[in-house]
Amino acid sequence: MATDAGNPIPRFPAGFLWGVSTSAHQIEGAADEREPSVWDAFTAEPGRVKDGSTAAVACDHVHRHREDVALLAGLGVDAYRFSLSWPRLRSGKKGLDFYDRLVDDLCAAGVRPVPTLFHWDLPADLDWLERDTAERFAEHVSLVAGRLGDRVTKWITLNEPAEHTLLGHALGVHAPGGKLLFDALPVAHHQLLAHGLAVRALRASGAADIGIANSHGPTWAASTEAADVEAAEFYDLLLNRLFADPLLLGRYPDGIGELMPGDVEADLKVIAEPLDWYGINYYAPTRVGAPQGAEIEFGGVTMPAELPFSVREIEGHPVTDFGWPVVPEGLTELLTAFRDRYGDRLPPVVITENGCSYPGVDDQDRIAYLDGHVRALHRAVEAGVDVRGYFVWSLLDNFEWAEGYARRFGLVHVDFGTLERTPKASYHWYRELLRAQEPTA
Ligand code: BGC
Repeated sequence: MATDAGNPIPRFPAGFLWGVSTSAHQIEGAADEREPSVWDAFTAEPGRVKDGSTAAVACDHVHRHREDVALLAGLGVDAYRFSLSWPRLRSGKKGLDFYDRLVDDLCAAGVRPVPTLFHWDLPADLDWLERDTAERFAEHVSLVAGRLGDRVTKWITLNEPAEHTLLGHALGVHAPGGKLLFDALPVAHHQLLAHGLAVRALRASGAADIGIANSHGPTWAASTEAADVEAAEFYDLLLNRLFADPLLLGRYPDGIGELMPGDVEADLKVIAEPLDWYGINYYAPTRVGAPQGAEIEFGGVTMPAELPFSVREIEGHPVTDFGWPVVPEGLTELLTAFRDRYGDRLPPVVITENGCSYPGVDDQDRIAYLDGHVRALHRAVEAGVDVRGYFVWSLLDNFEWAEGYARRFGLVHVDFGTLERTPKASYHWYRELLRAQEPTA
């Protein structure tokens, strides 16, 4: 793939926030030092995780966070997005002390902490099908903000409620393993409500810089046939509007609100609490056509025949070792389409995740992927989209959910036998990019 090598990456606006992302369950380990989450029960079931692994040790970040903070400082990022494990924070002083130290160490290293309050590791006794989980989340957020809010100023409520609903509750590929198809919609509503209540709790604690990290990508119809276009529009609604419309417009797309539980109109007022910025996780576009009347295996996910769409291959682009197409221009397309769709209801955007899975330490493919996407992001900025930051997924190779340790997304290689960290070529590349973006005196 062409890297545009030789042409320097254009400069981004002053104050642009450069970072990397991780999540608690994927890196922390120290599972015996916290309460169980839905992911512990799920991974214990044979066949759920492809390589049969668990996240009990993962990168052992809880015991090695000093080394990881040093890697962040060496990289020169402005900010570090990580997640706070609700099960760890419920397990008493030790959990809170860990995050206290992590936040202190980040601040001392000059790296701004940007915690996500929920990244899929729900305490095992809770369930997003229950409305009460949203209320419990808000109480939890109040406690956390009270403890960390003196040093944490930028917050993310939820990570990808769309994927958590789809993969975890509709298709059964992620924890907790629900295969409810469209009966999973209350999970979406309760997460949105949890988000809105969390925004209120954060504001009450004085927070003034709050966002959410949603997964989005362009949806391309498989053909111009009406059945394919209709199927693609429906997929676009699920991925790009089901969460964004209530958050940004205060309403569900037509026909969806009626399917949600509770007093939806009243909840929408909470859900649409104004945000300071809107986080987007972008990986690739999706090509979608009419249903094909049979189960489809795609990107490690089995999609049942009953779905009103079918996901198709995108041809003519390189693919990552996960099989995901590499389409940097999809990021420009997505951002300009979002700006056009939501207009002045869209707050400034931050790319909260972007990255790819490839093996090896001399990861030229990852450099090409990131180079292409940063340039595509700059084209969106030039086209007038207000983008304020970019976070690479991920700092470390980690536990990639149902794929176990087989997929490596890190800028830093982790040997899962010895837990040794080795910066990859992409780590050095990103460091140079960040240096070149520093303001000149
Ligand atoms: C998630 C991450 C995940 C990454 C790569 C995102 O959907 O937020 O947890 O590791 O994609 O699959």
